[in-house]
Amino acid sequence: MGNFKHRIVYQIWPRSFKDSNGDGIGDLQGIIGKLDYIKSLGVDTIWLSPIYATGNKDYGYDIDDYYKINPEFGSMEDFDELLHKSKNMGIDIVMDLVANHTSDQHSWFQEALKSKDSPYRNYYIFKQGKRNKKRELLPPNNWLSAFGGSAWQKDPNSDEFYLTLFTPNQCDLNWKNEKVREGIYEIMRFWLDKGILGFRMDVINTIAKKDGLPPAGKGKKLDFPFEHIVSLPKSHEYVKEMHEKVLSQYEDVFTVGEGMVTSLEDLNAYTRPEEKKLQMMFQFDVHLIGCGPLGKFDFRKGYRWTPKELKDLIIHWQTGVEKGGGWLGNFLSNHDQPRQVSRFGHDGAFRRKSAKSLALLNFTLRGTPFLYQGEEIGMTNCHLKEEDWRDFEAINDYRVLQEMMHLPKPLARKVIQKMTRDHARTPMQWSEEKNAGFTTGTPWMKVNPNCSYINVEKEMKRENSILSFYKKLIEIRKSSEALSTGSFVPVDTENKKVLSYLRQKGEDTYLIVINLSGSLAEANLMDVSAYNFKPVLCTYDALPFMPSMKLQPYEGRLYKV
Ligand code: NOJ
Ligand code: CA
Repeated sequence: MGNFKHRIVYQIWPRSFKDSNGDGIGDLQGIIGKLDYIKSLGVDTIWLSPIYATGNKDYGYDIDDYYKINPEFGSMEDFDELLHKSKNMGIDIVMDLVANHTSDQHSWFQEALKSKDSPYRNYYIFKQGKRNKKRELLPPNNWLSAFGGSAWQKDPNSDEFYLTLFTPNQCDLNWKNEKVREGIYEIMRFWLDKGILGFRMDVINTIAKKDGLPPAGKGKKLDFPFEHIVSLPKSHEYVKEMHEKVLSQYEDVFTVGEGMVTSLEDLNAYTRPEEKKLQMMFQFDVHLIGCGPLGKFDFRKGYRWTPKELKDLIIHWQTGVEKGGGWLGNFLSNHDQPRQVSRFGHDGAFRRKSAKSLALLNFTLRGTPFLYQGEEIGMTNCHLKEEDWRDFEAINDYRVLQEMMHLPKPLARKVIQKMTRDHARTPMQWSEEKNAGFTTGTPWMKVNPNCSYINVEKEMKRENSILSFYKKLIEIRKSSEALSTGSFVPVDTENKKVLSYLRQKGEDTYLIVINLSGSLAEANLMDVSAYNFKPVLCTYDALPFMPSMKLQPYEGRLYKV
């Protein structure tokens, strides 16, 4: 199977993948029923978004009990069955590890709430509130939560507040406490002992917080405390300890770190093999293109970006990680992002073309490729009305946009429609049957009406489908050392629309040429014209290589010497 650099990962967000019992909610038996489909893509690894017991305030990222399966998804027997069946098919399972916070229903937190002297109090981050001139009790500092509003919740039984950097029921753990760390390590051992391959680690670069919890930014209004929580030296230390005490005790544990706003230096420092921390990490710069400094709902740049900006970001990360000796997990979609054709491509006339080119991009970059359920059939964003929103982030930020940013309702609605995570969470479109074949019951969330023509069944029958393009691409990637681990060499870097690069290892050289724009473009490849390139996989016609090539909107081509 090769090592982590050779893997191809399929991400499942279980709630919206496939419902097996008609309750409208995707589940483990649903996944088991689709293993043949997943296998047919050519992937060898599944990452499951959280399937643990949860109150669903953040759909599984708020964990009540890390040793129990969410009963909506099934039982531990179902999980064991999934693990064994997939293993027999040559597919390994990666679980989500949420170690920055537990839910407020977790037994540690319930104990912590009982009194200020509870031994569990120190498992979390409690702090005395501040009094203003009127003697009103206010949160200890101005930290803003990632989902809007103060990051502090009042303890009902004291004058203290507890830190919740995400939803108000996701309580940040105190990683300074050795017992917390041991508790997390034990959870990891439990699942590794069961035979899972490894973990995708949720916001792993924010587990440490600056001592004393100083005010964020200028300290006046609510502000996100990037400088006090992102990739502090202590976070690196904790991950190193986790490696030493857990990961290194097992053979070849797959690890991918997720971290908001990771810098290049940090990503390299987390993933260089000699650091003994993580195997790879995601970066989000590409996903935040066109957003203001406060993140995805910061609309102040109007979500405007140019192909050249996207291209420069990709080149920056590709060359920077290669130079720095780290390793990336590459993805264009996940459960937190709008659908990739809608965000980076075109979800109208050029949907098929742009879906293929984006796939070509993701699978030929240096790093381990991840694909998210539905992208292999070119699923798009969905028109969602307020009553269709299911995500706390959308619902809360809608309010915050109006109250804090003074945005009129219609504009606030537009911002949410543009960026909500709900787009990624509409049910997987299996067929044109009722509810896209996702459930026989009432789906927990709106099904995109375009399932009448965007669905797996149709894609399977279609010639030149997006789906068959993915399968070919995955096969090519798997059989090529150059595409997996070779170096990335950008060419024609000044080109405003076309991203071109070589992937090289030993005798093997590939050339990838992608028009990132929705208009005609021209690639200038004089610099590499000495190579004898032959087309391997193209999104339009397989045209011969030329030192100067005209490209159609979103056209992508893969050549090989
Ligand atoms: C990142 C996860 O991907 C996202 O879904 C979640 O809301 C936050 N971390 C908090 O756990
Ligand atoms: Ca179900």
